[in-house]
Amino acid sequence: MTDVACVLDCRSLLGEGPFWDVAEQRLYWVDIKGRRIHRFDPGSGVDETWATAEDVGSLAPREGGGLVVALKSGFYFYDLVQGRATVAALAQGEPTNNRFNDGKTDRQGRFWAGSMDDGETLPTGGLFRLQPGLACRKMVDGIICSNALCWSPDSRVMYYADSWKRTVWAWDFDAATGDIDHRRVFLRIPDAEGIPDGATVDSEGFVWIAQWGGWRVARYDPDGRLARTIMLPVQQPTCPMFGGPGLDVMYMTSASIRLDAAARVRQPQAGSLFAVDAGVKGLPEVRFKG
Ligand code: BGC
Ligand code: CA
Repeated sequence: MTDVACVLDCRSLLGEGPFWDVAEQRLYWVDIKGRRIHRFDPGSGVDETWATAEDVGSLAPREGGGLVVALKSGFYFYDLVQGRATVAALAQGEPTNNRFNDGKTDRQGRFWAGSMDDGETLPTGGLFRLQPGLACRKMVDGIICSNALCWSPDSRVMYYADSWKRTVWAWDFDAATGDIDHRRVFLRIPDAEGIPDGATVDSEGFVWIAQWGGWRVARYDPDGRLARTIMLPVQQPTCPMFGGPGLDVMYMTSASIRLDAAARVRQPQAGSLFAVDAGVKGLPEVRFKG
């Protein structure tokens, strides 16, 4: 069995959205329901945190410093020195019970984030694209729980899931314009294996998907065939991200939310940050160009 190490023993409620910043050699991540931005330094083991006024779904570092974050009401710039958020673009037309969830930059430096019904039952969520110039557009709708956003190494395919439909789709992606087309099912996760949560693509073009409820992260080839499974000591892994100086460490966030007392005893590290040598390298993430 592959060794999975707990690198930060913490009880985040809903650890999510890991982003390895190559320039800083730090792992940014969020605790959505704990309303905290985190920055973890694997070298020292230090994890810094910043508070947000709303649930914080996802983030990306900006080229000029600071972060872009998807809060409940839309996109904000977050100043890490002042610990303050200012509006970049509010999400228009979202129901009051929606919040933002999974998000990431594409390789051209646009930021994408998906919204969801906070009750996780209504298909009122969608996927938003924020251009560097801050034009914001809804690209997909009808989603219950936005997750698994990532792109193939050649940027010709975008992946994105609705967790509660247990489905990950693929789209043709036009890197020059950021437009998407020709949605098809990439894979469906069987009931017994949990539901698809966060994802990342490795340098060989295989897609790694955290399977919430399934105690695992799994690797799929570009045709959606299962290639490998790594079991974790927590039931609710949320998102993988490659990091480290050689991009060969796979970090994994996790959640403790909605676990009952017995489950917490069985998995005392739920909510913590994990690392595993997955035997393959990731691709560098790109900062938001806005
Ligand atoms: C959401 C959770 C949800 C989970 C399901 C996460 O990304 O933040 O609210 O329960 O996905 O996989
Ligand atoms: Ca997620």
